[in-house]
Amino acid sequence: MHSSRNHIDTLLQHTGAAQLDPETESGPVAMPSMRTSTVRFANLAALDRAQRAKMTGERGVTYGRVGLQTHEAFEQMLCELEGGERAFLAPSGLAAISVVLLALLNSGDHVLAADSVYGPVRYLDKTILGRMGVPVTYSRATPDALQAALLPETRVLYLESPGSLLMEMLDLPALTAWAHERGLVVVADNTWGSGYVYRPLELGADVSVIAATKYLGGHSDLMMGGAVARDSDLCRRIGETHYALGYTVSADDVWLGLRGARTLGIRMRQCAANAMRICEFLSGRPEVLQIFHPAWPDDPGHALWQRDCTGSNGLMSVALDMDGARTRRLVDALTLFGIGYSWGGYESLVTVGDTGALAAHSYWARLGDERLRDDSVIRLHIGLEDPRDLIADLTQAFEISREE
Ligand SMILES: Cc1ncc(COP(=O)(O)O)c(C=O)c1O
Repeated sequence: MHSSRNHIDTLLQHTGAAQLDPETESGPVAMPSMRTSTVRFANLAALDRAQRAKMTGERGVTYGRVGLQTHEAFEQMLCELEGGERAFLAPSGLAAISVVLLALLNSGDHVLAADSVYGPVRYLDKTILGRMGVPVTYSRATPDALQAALLPETRVLYLESPGSLLMEMLDLPALTAWAHERGLVVVADNTWGSGYVYRPLELGADVSVIAATKYLGGHSDLMMGGAVARDSDLCRRIGETHYALGYTVSADDVWLGLRGARTLGIRMRQCAANAMRICEFLSGRPEVLQIFHPAWPDDPGHALWQRDCTGSNGLMSVALDMDGARTRRLVDALTLFGIGYSWGGYESLVTVGDTGALAAHSYWARLGDERLRDDSVIRLHIGLEDPRDLIADLTQAFEISREE
């Protein structure tokens, strides 16, 4: 499905266009939301063709759960973004992660995971994977550290680059080469890059997972996920599990995802430009110890970002030189940053690093700066507001935070 004919900004506008009616030779510009619970066929031969396609792993649609044109258009969009062959939609990013891991793992298998992955993956591990008898080892994501944690039963390497919280860039080509030499399947969470500024499949990963909830949806009004793969056997395995779990996504939600994707490029570019303005401001503040944002030249992963990414986004974490109580006063004093999880929408958001998650993060310990405290790391999503207003808001909040 991946086309190399046009540049990505052009593909974002033209992928999944609505078909023209053959009789009137006209049709809508935007793909409508095709809501349906089942599919109607002109004759049994047409139904047989769809069944046969389904049996060979193609996108044969005989029932509404799979989704019609709207779903297909968004799946194509994900394939174009990620350079994949098949995409599977899920009701959330976490659901996309879980369907892929359930598709690839059997009882007795072992998973190696980067210690920088999105926190709730550990929840999936503690609940379902644990019950299935699939242990997960979290490790620093370098070939040496992973080698030390490798078991004969290891089947999957699960990565996320840049990592959640501290935006740790991973050397995906080196890690995927190491994993493939050992017969592992590499799954990468690409929510940060959303297929637009980072493409794990091209860097060697076998499956890329995206929370469309973030930049693809882009308007903080949608929960959706997708998993994209190239290899036909992997696609078959994911497809079977996806079907067996009964995952489906409402056509209206898919429609929102498709609409969001049309403006993915300009939104990500603008969020990234605004984030750089905020980095410049923060780097001049005495309260700031370190900025974690791979596009920022002082970020530890900047060289890898320059090598592997074509852009950035609005997400950053900031380690502050203050105690947890002052950090909380600072966050409470912000007026333009909503206090809340998530990111990738049009608006700015802030959260405070959670002690448990950071403590589990060996990267944090490796930074080796004793002034870094896990209750004084804030995560900012820089949205589409005028960065001058965001800077004024941060400035007044820094001042208020001084008052005990
Ligand atoms: C990196 C990453 N992956 C996956 C998810 C899960 O997405 P969802 O909230 O749609 O389940 C998130 C959500 O914050 C995320 O940040």
